[in-house]
Amino acid sequence: MSPLLKIAPSVLAADFTKLSLEIKKVEEAGCDMIHIDVMDGHFVPNISVGPFIVKAIRQITQLPLDTHLMIENPQNYIEAFVQAGSSGITVHVEACRTNLEQVIDGIRAQGVRCGVSLKPATPVSAIEKFLPKIDLVLVMTVDPGFGGQKFMSEMLPKIEELRKKFLGDIEVDGGINAKTALDATRAGANILVAGTAIFGKQDVKKAIQELRGQ
Ligand code: DX5
Ligand code: ZN
Repeated sequence: MSPLLKIAPSVLAADFTKLSLEIKKVEEAGCDMIHIDVMDGHFVPNISVGPFIVKAIRQITQLPLDTHLMIENPQNYIEAFVQAGSSGITVHVEACRTNLEQVIDGIRAQGVRCGVSLKPATPVSAIEKFLPKIDLVLVMTVDPGFGGQKFMSEMLPKIEELRKKFLGDIEVDGGINAKTALDATRAGANILVAGTAIFGKQDVKKAIQELRGQ
């Protein structure tokens, strides 16, 4: 398996009554970053966490904090998440229908890594002209909003198409387990987000190794 493959546990599946221990556990198990899912109850039907939790997690770990904004008007919150300690911000193209370029520039101006995400129904063509300006594309492999859903294998051709056009990071999110991780990496993904396949397991080290194909 490629040494460039990165594993990003999604804290959405962590036990928030002991978040500090949960983060330490995945850090010691060798994950590469922490994925934080921000949901506003508008862009997606669920509500999760805000900058307050990012700030708390920033104090627990040195790992990069990969912040996935599933929110409307993400431009209004970029600074707050960067101030809280986000190392990278990913916004949804569907939430930036008229202003994606300005939003990308706004993220870059904050000096953090810039990602753009595609819902399953959104084609690569929706972001093609912005690819030279961004570090990462997050391909959703479930409809965003909830953990524990089934990986949509129909997204594999989209990852392949994107890999032909984009040399940056391709992250996949939703339904990733040892089997679907292999399919996604073969298609061209190099960052795997996983919630239940990591935090849902007793042995998180083994779970992370399995995702790496070890
Ligand atoms: C879904 C989130 C995911 C989610 C993944 O909207 O973006 O990050 O937590 O959870 P699993 O790995 O359980 O599908
Ligand atoms: Zn996510």
